[in-house]
Amino acid sequence: MSVRDRLAEISTIGRDDSRGGYSRHLLDPAEVALRGWFRNSAEALGLPVEVDGNGNLWAWWGESRSGAVATGSHLDSVPGGGAFDGPLGVVSALEAVAILKAEGWSPTRPVAVCAFAEEEGSRFGMPCLGSRLMVGEITPQDALARVDRSGVTLDKAWREAGLEVSAIGPDPDRLAGLDMFLELHVEQGLDLEERGLPLAVGSAIMAHGRWRLSILGEGNHAGTTPMRGRRDPVVAASSAALAVREIALERPAARGTVGRISVTPNGTNVIASRVDAWLDIRAHSDSEVRSQLDATVALIEERIAAEGCVLQVHEESFSPLVLFDETLTARIAGLLGGVPAIPTGAGHDAGVLSAYVPTAMIFVRNPTGVSHAPQETARAEDCEAGARALANVLRDLAGEAPG
Ligand code: GLV
Ligand code: MN
Ligand code: MN
Repeated sequence: MSVRDRLAEISTIGRDDSRGGYSRHLLDPAEVALRGWFRNSAEALGLPVEVDGNGNLWAWWGESRSGAVATGSHLDSVPGGGAFDGPLGVVSALEAVAILKAEGWSPTRPVAVCAFAEEEGSRFGMPCLGSRLMVGEITPQDALARVDRSGVTLDKAWREAGLEVSAIGPDPDRLAGLDMFLELHVEQGLDLEERGLPLAVGSAIMAHGRWRLSILGEGNHAGTTPMRGRRDPVVAASSAALAVREIALERPAARGTVGRISVTPNGTNVIASRVDAWLDIRAHSDSEVRSQLDATVALIEERIAAEGCVLQVHEESFSPLVLFDETLTARIAGLLGGVPAIPTGAGHDAGVLSAYVPTAMIFVRNPTGVSHAPQETARAEDCEAGARALANVLRDLAGEAPG
């Protein structure tokens, strides 16, 4: 097989005809189908699969569960996302194992191919939910109480999927069994395309966070309410979105985005009573994210006061700056022939794990530079180069006994 053959196997799963691209969210039918595909693919390679208490999938090559080199990514997507963000890392890990097995090579350390649950946070709002639960960065209570857009709690979704609610939570033994983690990922920008290179390693992940902004106004009749004196949260939310951009533009390399808005009650002839808008802020340090948030909230409060609206701010997640393990990253860059180390503005399970386990990333060139959208892509030859590179890295890292 090849990476592109493996991606073709899942190319019809979770297609989103209305948004374009793919919508694959934790424990929805598409994501459950991908879990089945993962199990079949791993078992076809002779790798037994287990689901940990947090819904993460692990396929094991080797008997031991300690000193492991783990590699993988995630299978879920954003709403209307691309085919590569997540699946490329999982598929490449499976293909790398297939390449090594075809050579007759076998690892000295155990190798785990993994797929983490709800990396995008698109259903329950917490990015890297599965890896954060595993390392204990969020509590089971917090996770179980989270609600999706239809009002279904994670607790209910978990039970309906036949998963064990009491198993959710920190998994220190599993974490202690990992000596290294590697995540291969499609690049989410044009750096490699501009450099004319197929592969890079990751140096850093920008600090980032997500906040729900609830803008409260006064619901009323669109026809009988005079224009003056309205307290319209849709008007206020529009000024809020502009404020987010104004503040981000003042700060070099900062990002500020409102990508999701929910209007209550959402009627054409109704002045809304409330708007929830989700704010995503990214910057080069934790403190820059915090100060960008403070400046953004202050400007929004000023703007929406003019509309007679009130703001409530709720932090949904915060992901500190990540600097990947320099020794491991340099070793991998060397194994790949001296590829560059590049930073990213995107979050990854590798970012969560890097605080606990030496972690590195490999990026595969993306000719459009687009991600979180259907135009996300990677050339077939670059995908195969990525899997071969990962196989070379695994041969080196898993070929030596744990120190
Ligand atoms: C996930 O890809 C994110 O960066 O939000
Ligand atoms: Mn993503
Ligand atoms: Mn991803």
